Amino acid sequence: MKTVGTIEALRAQVYAWHGSRIALVPTMGNLHAGHVSLLEAAKSRAEHTIVSIFVNPLQFGPREDFARYPRTLERDTQLLEQGGCELLFAPGVAQMYPQGEPLTRVQVRGLAELLDGQSRPGHFEGVATVVAKLLILACPDIAIFGEKDYQQLLIVRRMVADLALPVEILGAPTVRDADGLALSSRNQYLSLQERALAPQLHRTLLELAGALARGVPDEPKRALLEQQASASLRRSGFRVDYIAIRDAGDLGQPRHDSTGLVVLAAAWLGNTRLIDNLRIGYAGA
Ligand code: PAJ
Repeated sequence: MKTVGTIEALRAQVYAWHGSRIALVPTMGNLHAGHVSLLEAAKSRAEHTIVSIFVNPLQFGPREDFARYPRTLERDTQLLEQGGCELLFAPGVAQMYPQGEPLTRVQVRGLAELLDGQSRPGHFEGVATVVAKLLILACPDIAIFGEKDYQQLLIVRRMVADLALPVEILGAPTVRDADGLALSSRNQYLSLQERALAPQLHRTLLELAGALARGVPDEPKRALLEQQASASLRRSGFRVDYIAIRDAGDLGQPRHDSTGLVVLAAAWLGNTRLIDNLRIGYAGA
């Protein structure tokens, strides 16, 4: 695997691959089996794979964990080598934002203002801006994102559609630990006691999904289910940001003709914010 840290070197490699299919997997590093599954999906769909590692300051709020976000480039490099990645793009902040904070930002209205967008103002603007830039730099035919960050995936899809960027966006299933906890770089912030409680987030979503298995209930019933799920998480020791039943296509309120729902949750254990979601499909609805 080749590692490059400059836009110039990335462009030179992409230029040399012109005419063959390229896949990009954007990450912030501290890689785990979830990221590796995206690399696997990339390899099976393209001739050349690029993974990017960039801890993007734009998407962290002033009181968030940018400074202490785990940076483990050496270990990540080994993992990517083993996983058969061909090119690692690992630029520094000065390389990505040479003029300082970029004045040009990508906003995906509506979608980016819901749920995580409410709890983390500016977060998705930072994500959309850096993903747009990475897509422009790497010119991939396909880019792969995890369903773990479901709202992020929908925002990237919508941005690509609105800007007619010539790239296919693929969503890949969430990889979980044996007890159901979705893998995340932030899981390592959890104390042993918090780690033992953490799978309750997934279990609560499973229960909620079970209650929705037979169709879309009306609004009062949905509100009740959300409140019950939220109370159950609080009893387990979480501080709940949101737990929501939404249309899987646009994260709006479910409609009776919704062909799919998604249940999403964000909740804190101590100082660690965990998110998770589950999709529920209604064939033929
Ligand atoms: P990061 O959190 O490093 O995640 C990189 C990619 O891995 C994202 O597409 C994310 O959804 C996916 N991922 C994370 N945990 C996963 C899991 N357990 N199973 C499957 N996929 C998983 O998301 C970001 O970085 C950034 O916002 C980024 C898109 C790179 C922009 O900076």
